Amino acid sequence: MKKRIFSGAQPTGQLHIGNYLGALKNWVALQDEYESFYCIVNLHAITLPQNPKVLRQKTLDLARIYLAAGIDPEKSTIFIQSDVPEHAELTWILSCIARMGELERMTQYKDKGKGNSERAGVGLFTYPVLMASDILLYQTDLVPVGQDQKQHLELTRDLAERFNRDFGETFTIPEPFIPPVGANILSLQEPTKKMSKSDENANGSIFLLDDADTITKKIKRAVTDSGTEINFDDSRPAIKNLLTIFQLLTGKSASECETHFAGKGYGHFKTELAETVVEFLRPFQDRVKEFDDAALDAILKPGAEKARSIASDTLKSVYKKVGIA
Ligand code: TYM
Repeated sequence: MKKRIFSGAQPTGQLHIGNYLGALKNWVALQDEYESFYCIVNLHAITLPQNPKVLRQKTLDLARIYLAAGIDPEKSTIFIQSDVPEHAELTWILSCIARMGELERMTQYKDKGKGNSERAGVGLFTYPVLMASDILLYQTDLVPVGQDQKQHLELTRDLAERFNRDFGETFTIPEPFIPPVGANILSLQEPTKKMSKSDENANGSIFLLDDADTITKKIKRAVTDSGTEINFDDSRPAIKNLLTIFQLLTGKSASECETHFAGKGYGHFKTELAETVVEFLRPFQDRVKEFDDAALDAILKPGAEKARSIASDTLKSVYKKVGIA
């Protein structure tokens, strides 16, 4: 039997090249080897205020992005989180074994809640418990994510181990899959911070749906480090970040990239990087337009049914174990 993958992204803001290189690219690469479940996590999205009128649209748009990136509905299950109510149900059970202290230590909660527990939403606080439920419902072996989700994965493993210890073997303990290169793509404007959907400065991110002009401008304006060499040097994070994007989009090795740009200046490098990104995104953006709502429905409905058949088995066993069924 194939091992199982679960991963997901939130239908908030716009997906950027960091989401693609840190996560989606690997989802596509792993889908042949694993039985894969890729979820659009709309329940996570509402942990921060969303415009109800656009949330549904963004949820469907994210499904289009999964498909355009190369997730094949013949091989992988694509579904919307809220279509499988077991996610919310398991969250309640796991909330009863999660500890305030461990949730308070989550850096994402500290960042997004801005350290203000008086005003931060309870949903933002329990966000990682919903994420653990997503993963554990499917008896997941592997979770491909970017670096920023590592702490949530550790919590998921802790909750699964605690439940198994207290109630008997129930959940598979999932392993994170964090790629060695590309797990933390940085902002083009502040290369000490990750590229982020919620960044107020849009120039920091290359969005997957940006047009060619915008991409070229953003790359031209990207901050660089002092010095002139174009190489992978940890003390020069801005150039390393741009070179990492080039490396992952071209499939070249690190040393091939360095040789390729040896003796060339920043201007040349940025022009070539912009062309590479634009050429990569062009066919992707064409594919996004291929899926109308009816085509999506024909993928998401059976996706949710398949997901639900597995999730409900896990939830039944959980309810039995805790003595409420
Ligand atoms: P989200 O929507 O913020 O991001 C989706 C994926 O993109 C990765 N990522 C990055 N990778 C590299 N560089 C970056 N700058 C960068 N920014 C984001 C994220 O690590 C993620 O893999 N909590 C999750 C969604 C989620 C989930 C799950 C993931 C909910 N349930 C269960 C895995 C399994 C999130 O907010 O991802």
